Amino acid sequence: MSLDKLLDNIRILAVVCNQFGDSGKGKFVDYFSSNWANVVARGTGGNNAGHTIIVNGREKVFHLLPVGVAYDSSGVISILGNGMVLDVKVLAEELDELDNEGATYNHLRISEDATVIMPWHIAIDQAKNQSQKDGGIGSTGRGIGPAYADKVARKAVKIRDLFNTDTLVKKVLKLSEIYPDQNINAKDLVEYILPFVPRIKPFVRDTVTEMHQFVREGKKILLEGAQGLLLSIEHGVDPYVTSSDCSLNGTASGVGLPANAVDLSIGLIKFPFMTRVGGGPFPTEIGGLRSEKHCGEGFTKKDELERFGIKYEIQDGKIKYNPKDEKILQMMNSQDTFIKGIGIRLAAGEYGATTGRPRRVGCTDAVAARYAVGINGPIMALTKVDCMSGADSFNICYDYQIDAQRDLRFKRDAAYLRKITPQYQIYGGYGKINSAGIFKDLPARLMDAIRDFEIFTSGKVVVVSTGPEKEQTIVR
Ligand code: IMO
Ligand code: MG
Repeated sequence: MSLDKLLDNIRILAVVCNQFGDSGKGKFVDYFSSNWANVVARGTGGNNAGHTIIVNGREKVFHLLPVGVAYDSSGVISILGNGMVLDVKVLAEELDELDNEGATYNHLRISEDATVIMPWHIAIDQAKNQSQKDGGIGSTGRGIGPAYADKVARKAVKIRDLFNTDTLVKKVLKLSEIYPDQNINAKDLVEYILPFVPRIKPFVRDTVTEMHQFVREGKKILLEGAQGLLLSIEHGVDPYVTSSDCSLNGTASGVGLPANAVDLSIGLIKFPFMTRVGGGPFPTEIGGLRSEKHCGEGFTKKDELERFGIKYEIQDGKIKYNPKDEKILQMMNSQDTFIKGIGIRLAAGEYGATTGRPRRVGCTDAVAARYAVGINGPIMALTKVDCMSGADSFNICYDYQIDAQRDLRFKRDAAYLRKITPQYQIYGGYGKINSAGIFKDLPARLMDAIRDFEIFTSGKVVVVSTGPEKEQTIVR
């Protein structure tokens, strides 16, 4: 694909999501890792993320390791940055998985400054995680929030502490006083964690100093965003957020770089639909509260396929069905918005990579995207655009209405976002687009929508993804 056109004179590139995560970062990060980058670094979150990596021709879902690790044998350096929270057990498991595939990770580097997720963080997260069903945020239950809470409280165990048993025991003893309910036993904990230490030790470094050296050497550095701007602790809608700043700024700072060192930042936008996993306001949700409630009830992909009588097979433990099935197309065009939302979910395969939950589906929200452009910058790539081909029409939200007034603000206030009524521009649908090679090959109605979207957001769409394959990418 001609993404290379974007890379003239670029040394530091970031790929971030401008929505609620799951915007298809994997495809872009994979391309840039395979063709361009010398260094691929993650700076935020932990194993709450989920991305599919092709290792030796096989699809693997990883949560922690950067996508770049798949190119280790070509010398690509992968970094788990200072801003991350790391569950060392999960990390060891992901490394085992690479071993099982005969894949290498010789160029992996783990920041000594990253924070360690402890077993009690997971216990607290899961216990507190009032389920999405009861209006809770529906965290991934991986201990992310509690680990960041210890970090901010300046009490967290850092990766470097794992190599000094005295410091580790001291810190854990202190933490056991802070969490009396967790019955933290320092001896047991140290025994639990120590076996993982030699496994990760060869990779632990001062990655921040190294990163600065890479910049001085002119290495090509790719910052691999996780989550999405609207889930950022800083810019999302509290409390329905993750606990890191997954904006461009947070992603850069999470690897020890200033955001203004980034030569090009690409903000991904699913178009003309979008998704959200977990609880929280989602103004443009198709099927509204009914969809929100349904998605919180623990149904799986299999349940949804069976409920609507769509044929599927199970291959290698994975469910396979035809996303272009006539029944799915009919659902996408249903007058009943609840059914329509499920149709889009099935057509686009929107089920969580980390938790398997059905992702809530909505129309692309240009008001939220305009807000995201203000924080992550103007350059955008539209993803998964092919998934809605065949729909009779699609809607884009260009305005929130509140008390009969037009309001263009995306406010970080759940009550406000629950109160507004999104206003839509309706566009006629489009057919197959996955053979479009250049922008002008796209259907006129889709191009109209993209142009309107750019004008409204003050952004610039430089890429349109027309299918999962690398070649199915249009660069303007
Ligand atoms: P990727 O990198 C989508 C959501 C969770 C929950 C909220 C808080 O795959 O795009 P947490 O466990 O982080 O405390 O949960 O954030 N969330 C994500 N949603 N994609 C992700 O990552 C997410 N990481 C966290 O569903 O609503
Ligand atoms: Mg995900």
